[in-house]
Amino acid sequence: MGALAGLCRTCGFIAEQLGLDEVEELSVSGLLHDLGKVVLFQGFAEEFHYVRALVETRDLLFYQAEEQVFGAHHGLAGGWLLEKWTLPGKLVAPVSDHHDFRPHRSHAECTAVVHLADVLCRAEALGRGGDRKIPQLQPAAVKLLDLGMEEIRKIMERLDAELDDIPRM
Ligand SMILES: [Fe+2]
Repeated sequence: MGALAGLCRTCGFIAEQLGLDEVEELSVSGLLHDLGKVVLFQGFAEEFHYVRALVETRDLLFYQAEEQVFGAHHGLAGGWLLEKWTLPGKLVAPVSDHHDFRPHRSHAECTAVVHLADVLCRAEALGRGGDRKIPQLQPAAVKLLDLGMEEIRKIMERLDAELDDIPRM
């Protein structure tokens, strides 16, 4: 639970740093970003265990192992569910695309925030995500948000200072 809270709050920090209007929406997307893992585990528990085994034996990121087993990762599964619930695209897109950022897609700015928050939280050991690796930060996402190293450093300092109630893994 701490990992979800960490990502939710990190999305808010990034949105505030960038002066975005969607602080609340981004916090909700952050909270829901890995919902697809729950969906896949509940619907396909046996296959989900095989995903875990692949992560261990082939040293893959969790979503890469999911792609091998299911042909799609948890982001797409979660986005599909949120779409069925008719939630707004601004909430759905960051969940669907947080492991596959593309600047031309709709709501790309919101997706870039959730993608960045996911990578920073992993780098800060705020959650494991089911694997031991840190996902690669997509340069196109950083470019779209127009973030320099100094701004990213400030966000990470805020994570250190304000997320000290969340245990590191
Ligand atoms: Fe994810």
